[in-house]
Amino acid sequence: MQTTLSDWLALQETSSAPLQRGLEQVAEACRVIAGLVERAPLEGRLGALTTTNIQDEVQKALDLASNDVFLDLCGQEPVFAGFASEELDDVSMGTQGGDFLLAFDPLDGSSNIEVAMCVGSIFSVLPAPDAARGRAIQAEDFLQPGRNQLAAGYALYGPQAMFVLSVGAGVAGFTLDRDRREWILTHPDMTVPEESGEYAINSSNERHWKPGLRQFMAAVQVGREGPLKQDFNMRWTAAMVADVHRILVRGGVFLYPADNRPKVANGKLRLLYECAPMGWLVEQAGGVAYGANGPVLNVRPSSLHQRSPIALGSRRVLEQAWAEYLVSDGAAEG
Ligand code: AHG
Ligand code: MN
Ligand code: MN
Repeated sequence: MQTTLSDWLALQETSSAPLQRGLEQVAEACRVIAGLVERAPLEGRLGALTTTNIQDEVQKALDLASNDVFLDLCGQEPVFAGFASEELDDVSMGTQGGDFLLAFDPLDGSSNIEVAMCVGSIFSVLPAPDAARGRAIQAEDFLQPGRNQLAAGYALYGPQAMFVLSVGAGVAGFTLDRDRREWILTHPDMTVPEESGEYAINSSNERHWKPGLRQFMAAVQVGREGPLKQDFNMRWTAAMVADVHRILVRGGVFLYPADNRPKVANGKLRLLYECAPMGWLVEQAGGVAYGANGPVLNVRPSSLHQRSPIALGSRRVLEQAWAEYLVSDGAAEG
């Protein structure tokens, strides 16, 4: 007997009925986006548009189509009071008085679209502040530390479409059965292995790195003869969803650091809808996730699209990396 996402949600003690409804709608949006991604070359939806988002990144047709699917489907679910998206300059109003706020990256890794490699979606559910019940949602309402999340997850559009979710009591993974139009539980208790020998970092940026990161990566490359006492292999998919999924399945570390370029002074990835939800999932699965100055989930954002450095993954190697190398880079940033 297969367990569907709805069956699983109904069994979760940490998830209320309104939260379940909201998450089922997010999963439905991801199911629709999986179809858009699959059919993109057939429907003329590959390639870049002439528009840019608030971070001056060129938008792609699929970025905007995926954003529309999230807003359209999740906007029909009255539990959501408001939305924040990578592709929207400001917040979008949901149902006034709704219990939750939804922040999302509708399509992650969009440089992979044309080359038929993995892309994904990332989402984070926060409580709507009581003070917001009688008025329209504002950007400030979203500025909560990651620890406040009630649920977070991602969808991976790869060889299979997967939906990976936490409601605060571990992490579960579901695979899309396209014929049944259902997400089926296939990865019941995802746990980041404590030990792992895989790392993911865009090393083309090495010349911009700070001293602590340089020393850590030098130790990684020395392998078992060095202070980390193990050999490493490298993987970089250019889609955070795919890199984090690999870490949830077989361990490893993923880093997108701040570096010496002004544009990357706070890293590249966004706190609210990339670093916080992924950090929460990794912690829920027994791993660790650091931002600029400590656990990324402790950071309260000061703006909607704020960036953060991120280092997440297997506990043993990353705790050592943080304490011996990376912490000094964060402190220097002040
Ligand atoms: P997005 O497509 O939502 O802008 O995110 C892309 C992000 C992330 O998924 C990935 O890890 C990183 O950018 C890749 O960066 P590089 O271009 O430095 O490889
Ligand atoms: Mn992204
Ligand atoms: Mn994106």
